Amino acid sequence: MKIIEGRDLYRIQLKHLHPINEIDFYYKLLIQSFFKMSNTIIALSPESVFETEQERLIKNALEELKEQKPLQYIIGEVQFRNLKLKVNSNVLVPRPETEDLVGWIIEDYINIECSKKLIDFGTGTGCIAISLAKEQPLFETTAIDLDQDIIDLASRNSQENNININYIKHDLTKLESLDLKVDIIVSNPPYITPDEREVMKPNVLDYEPHQALFVPQNDPLLFYRSILDYAHLNLNKKGNIYFEFNPLFLKEMKNLILTYSSYLITERKDIFDKVRMLRLEKQ
Ligand SMILES: C[S@@+](CC[C@H](N)C(=O)[O-])C[C@H]1O[C@@H](n2cnc3c(N)ncnc32)[C@H](O)[C@@H]1O
Repeated sequence: MKIIEGRDLYRIQLKHLHPINEIDFYYKLLIQSFFKMSNTIIALSPESVFETEQERLIKNALEELKEQKPLQYIIGEVQFRNLKLKVNSNVLVPRPETEDLVGWIIEDYINIECSKKLIDFGTGTGCIAISLAKEQPLFETTAIDLDQDIIDLASRNSQENNININYIKHDLTKLESLDLKVDIIVSNPPYITPDEREVMKPNVLDYEPHQALFVPQNDPLLFYRSILDYAHLNLNKKGNIYFEFNPLFLKEMKNLILTYSSYLITERKDIFDKVRMLRLEKQ
């Protein structure tokens, strides 16, 4: 099969799922990632013929895309701010809004002159922790998740990006046994309720880990409450908490935070104009 024939095959078989420009983008990214071919080579050699094994990989990936598997899981990699991170089925594919959350923290701490202890609760790929530590070398960063295989992936991601992070395997709902004083807390914990499944797309619902997505219907703010209890004892005065959260629960989030009566709250919107991030400044 020639490169251009593969592209046409993708266009035909995926046209019911994606617009043509997206299909071409996926196809190019797969070839680049699988065979390390540059954009220029792909553009200049449409008549080059794939080897048998290459053709098999391209056709397998097409089958996976038809099943709506996210491209990032197929190539096993994702771009987050200026990092390349490995992803697998144990972790969420990092989202653009989370890049904005990181950007907010970097803006706030751009001019610091001494080190700050930071903790990232529910680290997944390590995207938040690693990008923060890379962009602000004065952050001393700890990252936490529930499973060892997730910690192993995040740890590999930080090694490959030459970043030093202290990883801890710990349950976010049992933070009373964690004793670490910090200046900054950041978290994008699970925040989708089971009721929302109906409006979720198969590429998320069938492939992304439910442990990273869902919270109990009857206690959707469980993780935030646990982190706020932790912060009450362990966040230094003048420290900040940054949360990504479910815009459906803005009112409930604010009410919860107000019960701690120690924070100045600032909201930030995502690209869809929904308030999805909060900064809490400890007074
Ligand atoms: C929404 S994902 C966020 C991942 C990553 N920080 C990001 O922004 O892409 C939530 C993360 O919380 C972790 N998690 C879920 N329940 C947990 C628990 N009880 N204790 C610790 N981590 C938990 C999941 O494994 C997942 O990595």
